[in-house]
Amino acid sequence: MLRVLAIVGSPRKGKNNDTLVHEMLKGIEETSIEPITIDKLYADRLNISPCKACGGCGRKRGCVLKDDMGEVYEKFDQADIVILSSPLYFNSISAQVKTIIDRNQAIWSSKYILNDSLINKSKKRIGYFICTAGMPEEPHLFDATLPIMELFFKSINTDHEGNLFVANVDEKSVMERKESLEKAYSIGSDLVGKMKAL
Ligand SMILES: Cc1cc2nc3c(=O)[nH]c(=O)nc-3n(C[C@H](O)[C@H](O)[C@H](O)COP(=O)(O)O)c2cc1C
Repeated sequence: MLRVLAIVGSPRKGKNNDTLVHEMLKGIEETSIEPITIDKLYADRLNISPCKACGGCGRKRGCVLKDDMGEVYEKFDQADIVILSSPLYFNSISAQVKTIIDRNQAIWSSKYILNDSLINKSKKRIGYFICTAGMPEEPHLFDATLPIMELFFKSINTDHEGNLFVANVDEKSVMERKESLEKAYSIGSDLVGKMKAL
């Protein structure tokens, strides 16, 4: 069974991020010969509070906040492939995505303070990041997202396989760009082979 978790980080359902995630998932689904379970979550529709920095996760395994993040921790743990998407907001990720990532502090504490990991550290997972920008392509447009993604995927013990960056979507959406849709599909398709090779 191949388990895929995709998180759409834009609040706009059916738009650029959602569409690229959809295509990547289609590529995975149509390539996998194993049975597959796909969880597609919309960050904006989850009830997830920001980290309160209470330190509770350093004293007792898990987060003291009881909200939808509990389910997300489990899904990170179970997933073979994790796709995270975000629109570029002020050169960074959306607040919805950042809120989820900050709550991974509970995973960090479980590993490095309590030595009682919330995530199975020996399980192989691969991850892909999708990010869209309204502005036209320019050097370094997506750079600020990179160190965040590096730590995010590290927090869930997932190999960060790559990034799909698409600029200028406010001028021309990905829905009107066959090459972007095909690229997302083919990345999804490749991820299946890469997962099997691990
Ligand atoms: C709050 C906000 C901040 C934004 N900041 C940027 C930015 O810094 N750079 C940029 O290129 N586009 C910026 N945009 C445009 C979005 O990146 C663009 O509309 C988004 O990628 C579209 O994705 P979606 O259709 O999935 O929502 C911003 C949009 C909003 C609403």
